[in-house]
Amino acid sequence: MNNYFDIHSHVLWGMDDGAQDLQTSVELCDIAADSGTGTLFLTPHLMYWENAEYLYDKREYKFERLLEILEEEEIPLDIKKGFEILCDDDIFDIKYFKPYTLCGSRYALIEFDFFKPTYEDVNSWCDYLKAFGIVPVIAHPERYEFFLNDYSAIDKLSEKGNLFQINSGSAAGMFGDEVRDFAVRMINYGFADFVGSDAHDMRIRNTDMEFCFENYPDVINEEVMRRALLLNPLKIINDEQIKVNRLGYFAEI
Ligand SMILES: [Fe+2]
Repeated sequence: MNNYFDIHSHVLWGMDDGAQDLQTSVELCDIAADSGTGTLFLTPHLMYWENAEYLYDKREYKFERLLEILEEEEIPLDIKKGFEILCDDDIFDIKYFKPYTLCGSRYALIEFDFFKPTYEDVNSWCDYLKAFGIVPVIAHPERYEFFLNDYSAIDKLSEKGNLFQINSGSAAGMFGDEVRDFAVRMINYGFADFVGSDAHDMRIRNTDMEFCFENYPDVINEEVMRRALLLNPLKIINDEQIKVNRLGYFAEI
């Protein structure tokens, strides 16, 4: 499989804890293209709403600059805009989300604190976004304590129309056995709506998703991977509805 879509990366330099200089951004794009990625979403962290407009403008400028260089250096990679929105109760003061979604679509990539939130917190933030017509895409659920401790939270959030993005490294064991088993289960039972690199730097968490796939277990649901890497991201780009295909209840499989 190639020309797939990586919907989660911190490749745009100087925006967050990801790439720190333009050269690293270009190298990460080059690695992505070499490893089979055709389209890379640039999703810097949006952690404080008071910075949102500033970050938006900064992203616009840097995006255009990176686009120019990819063309000059003939790196065959399409890039798209997005943010990874950190949700907490501050979100209840915000009423306009479209500038911060994945390419201006209805789909917003969201994350939370790794340890503090409960299912009720996450559900209330997701419901709030949905009231504005936004479909939450929950980044790396396999890395949160409350999901690992309560598989039924995945079922409840799924039934309410939330989507899930697994990190490519998780199912390869990059974050330990517990996270790997959870991520593989998400893929094999149809709960992985997207797979993204969440690339931050040139070292471990980079844009080489193919390297991760080579380290996946032998039994992996290829149809789910095809939807996650090709079909569903195209629906984001075209702002079309995504229909999920769960193969049972996550907590009961
Ligand atoms: Fe991220």
